[in-house]
Parts: sequence; C-alpha cells; structure tokens
Amino acid sequence: MLPSNVSKLLNEQINKEMFSAYLYFDMANYYISKGYNGFANWFNVQAREEMDHALLFVKYLQNNNFDVSLAAIAKPEIPFKDLREPLTEALKHEEFVTASIHAIYAEALKTNDYRTMEFLQWFIKEQGEEEKNATDLIISYDLHGSQGRFALDGKLHARTYSAPSLELD
Ligand code: FEO
Repeated sequence: MLPSNVSKLLNEQINKEMFSAYLYFDMANYYISKGYNGFANWFNVQAREEMDHALLFVKYLQNNNFDVSLAAIAKPEIPFKDLREPLTEALKHEEFVTASIHAIYAEALKTNDYRTMEFLQWFIKEQGEEEKNATDLIISYDLHGSQGRFALDGKLHARTYSAPSLELD
C-alpha cells in the first residue's frame, strides 16, 4: 500500500497532466487560428503525450489498489499576445510540472516509498527532455526570425506522436 500523502499527490498529478494536455491543445488552436499548422501540430503531439502521462499515473495508482478520484480540469486562460508567448508559457509550465514531480519524489523519499521513487524516475528524466524541447523551440523561433517563420512551421509539421517508453501492465 502506498503512503497516503504520496498517493494523494500522485492522484493530483493526474489533473496536472490532463491540464497540460488542455493547455497544449489551447496553444495548438491558437496557432491554427493564425495559420501556423506546423506549430499547431507540435503542440497537438505534445498534448497527446500529456494524456499518456496522466494515464500512467492512473494505472500506477490502480496497480497499487488506490481508488482514483478525478477532479475538474481548469480552463486554460492565457490570452496570447504574440506567436512567441505560447512557447515561453510552455517552458514555464514544464518547469512547474517538474517541480510538482520532484515534490512527489521528495514525499516518497521521506516515507521510504521506494516503489514510487522507482516509478517517478522515468518522469524525472522525461521532464528534463520536456524542458529541453521547450527551450530548443524558443531558441529556434528566435533564430528563424520573422523571415524564416514559415520554414520553421514546415519543420514543426514533421513532428510525429510516439507512445511513451514507459509501459505499465
Ligand atoms: Fe507531462 Fe510535459 O509533463
């Protein structure tokens, strides 16, 4: 059985991952409205990955006999002032998620919950990649400038979805 503080935080993480998906769908919709389908594709792929993350937390809790309880998902409310802003907001959001995962890990460590620590290792590594991807996208956006924006949009169109490397039975 998982320590109750740990399972509570894991259950809350489901909502944070689902909200991440909502946020990235919202960003994808913003780019569609501006005619940038490649940027939209990048964020739609990102949103699908977030839903995968949420499902992994659900599965882990269920595998440990915890009754998952779902909360309402907040409406993304960021009015984007320009094409760059979703990119910086995405990085900020990933840093928030990283801190949240680290907080669960710290709680698991405090309560000798080695199983959860092992489970969270994948997410800790994943967050490093997510922050790097978000940072790389900002750098790429700035390097391309306004002249190269459609070329970057074409590159982002090539991003494809792949299922997470972590699988739970
Ligand atoms: Fe599931 Fe991007 O954090």
